[in-house]
Amino acid sequence: MSDVRVKFNLTNGEDGQDEDIFNPPAPLLAGAHCSGLQNYHDLYRTSINDADGFWRNVASDLHFEQGTSKGLEYNFDAKAGPVYCKFMDGAKTNISYNCLERNIKRGLGDKIAYIFEGNEPSDVSTWTYKELHAQVVQFSAVLRAHGVQRGDVVALYLPMIPELAVAMLACARIGAMHSVVFAGFSAESLAARVVDARCRVVVTADGVFRGAKPIGLKSIADAAVALAAQEDVKVEAVIMVEHLKRVTKPDGVELPKADYSEITFVYETEMQKCSGIDSPVEWMDAESPLFLLYTSGSTGKPKGIQHTTAGYMTYAYATTKYTFDTKDDDVYWCTADCGWITGHSYLLYGPLMNGLKGIWYEGVPTYPTPSRMWDAVDKYGVTKLYTSPTAARALMALGNKWLESTSRKSLKVIGTVGEPINPAAWMWLYKKVGLSNVSIVDTYWQTETGGHMITCLPGATPMKPGAAAMPFFGASPVLLDAEGRVIEGPGEGSLCFDRAWPGMMRGIYGDEQRFVKTYFAPFNGYYFTGDGARRDEDGYLWITGRVDDLMNVSGHLLSTAEIESALVAHEKVAEAAVVAAPHDIKGSFPYAFVTLNVGEKIDEKLVAELKKMVREKIGALAVPDVIQEAPGLPKTRSGKVTRRILRKIAEGSESGIGDTTTLVDESVIKQLISGRSARA
Ligand code: WTA
Repeated sequence: MSDVRVKFNLTNGEDGQDEDIFNPPAPLLAGAHCSGLQNYHDLYRTSINDADGFWRNVASDLHFEQGTSKGLEYNFDAKAGPVYCKFMDGAKTNISYNCLERNIKRGLGDKIAYIFEGNEPSDVSTWTYKELHAQVVQFSAVLRAHGVQRGDVVALYLPMIPELAVAMLACARIGAMHSVVFAGFSAESLAARVVDARCRVVVTADGVFRGAKPIGLKSIADAAVALAAQEDVKVEAVIMVEHLKRVTKPDGVELPKADYSEITFVYETEMQKCSGIDSPVEWMDAESPLFLLYTSGSTGKPKGIQHTTAGYMTYAYATTKYTFDTKDDDVYWCTADCGWITGHSYLLYGPLMNGLKGIWYEGVPTYPTPSRMWDAVDKYGVTKLYTSPTAARALMALGNKWLESTSRKSLKVIGTVGEPINPAAWMWLYKKVGLSNVSIVDTYWQTETGGHMITCLPGATPMKPGAAAMPFFGASPVLLDAEGRVIEGPGEGSLCFDRAWPGMMRGIYGDEQRFVKTYFAPFNGYYFTGDGARRDEDGYLWITGRVDDLMNVSGHLLSTAEIESALVAHEKVAEAAVVAAPHDIKGSFPYAFVTLNVGEKIDEKLVAELKKMVREKIGALAVPDVIQEAPGLPKTRSGKVTRRILRKIAEGSESGIGDTTTLVDESVIKQLISGRSARA
């Protein structure tokens, strides 16, 4: 019924074909929080013209222990004064209270907050809001017993198990900042984050299964603690969940052993010790820090993105409500890992504040079979599904037969995030997965923005496959040309925002200068995203990708500089340059060029050693798929590596290399091209 192409002729796609545009399904329009395009435009106008009124109205759904007359205050003009943003300054609240007690008080105590679905389909538990609350209070007492106070940073190196939700909410309850570190990161990456924020407490698990493969997390955490000690950061407690003890184990697998060192405290034992202890909520100032989340930086050192309380809370609440058009009877599933911002805003905080029944999934989408996601959709009657283009492409590539045993008829909205979605994957989600009965919301945003910035709304925005589409309420995108001039109307440029929104980051932990330099110096007066975008004739925004030295691999941002420094740490490597090359499933992959020291030659052993080096220093997701020996790197006279050229070589599109006359030595290009074909 809803597979109606309302217009077929708005703009031309890259291949010269007319683009399709799809209306939201009629049942989604009826009763939507934002219903119809006119309603969107009206609300959007209010959110810009009367931002304070708009956000006060949204915030009135939430609990503030103390109110304020203040709204959004900010300065983006670094030349005029310090860059800052404040929201509801003077108010007091607590996001954990808003997720738990507030919902219990409005009668949702016995509603299921999460269905925790383990790696093995048989490992399932359900927790009501009351049950989750009880665990959170108890764990907050454990943290307090270990001396954690307001303002401290607690590192959470945990897989996607219930205790991660508990630990995040427990930190927020007592005003400690959580710093979740993706459990696929290496000991060195974890150590760097522990050191940067001087964490004294690390919460981890003995291990986890990723599909059929066991991973010993505790030994990685222990190695990180030892590395941190070398930097004079002394971790006093490693609280460990004994997760492996309770899971169903695939046959014949040997479990990793966890070491019970002096500073190891078993989660379950600590919880028992604190049973029945009252551990009250800390009422936090609107602008007090809520959490840190590290993201890649173009200089290589990860940035501790800092979010604060009231603004992040209000924005995560509002974006969840409108982008997924949340309803009381929704079954909501965000497949993201809490190691990334999507897990923070749209698996934990946003859905809980909206009182939703959510699914919290530990595993991977293809285990035990590529039907796993669709089986779970049917099993639980999932209405709103939030996933990534990479997952969609990977499942699509495995064939439609994995869809056939399931109906997926409960689905109403499918969201994607993390990278641009190609029209083919969009159409697959829309037609094959969603049976043309869903809205697809391609949500563009960043760790730094806290929540969605550009997206369709499911009951309002006609959809174009591949376009992130329209700004969220209060978000004011502008495209700037290389000279910093605003591009009006259709065109392509650097994507910036010209005003603050409540959920924006408030700084980089411990590095105010880098905050201004990275986001506000490139275009004075604007927040710069680091992405490019195109605006079409209908005002739809299409994200074209990073314009800086970050690359997006499977929706994860990686720094080329960080991978390069891992490679040059090898004694045989003199120099390295890493670029993003296109990949059918991952979107792009790291392609490394390495110049070896005189007399060294590349062989399989060295390639394996280099890959191991990157895995150990950063994590498996950063390992280059291709490592090519480069007798020399193309450089300008000032010594700058011309990545533009390396990208073309990695892509295999030598013809597009363009002008090379500014290079010191043009002959290296020929060598690199022939080196490439030898490897391809
Ligand atoms: C990219 C993830 C195109 C973009 C929430 C951004 C996207 C970076 C989209 C942030 C999208 C995210 N379309 N590109 N819908 N969503 N990106 O901080 O390059 O992990 O700057 O936050 O991912 O990645 P981050």
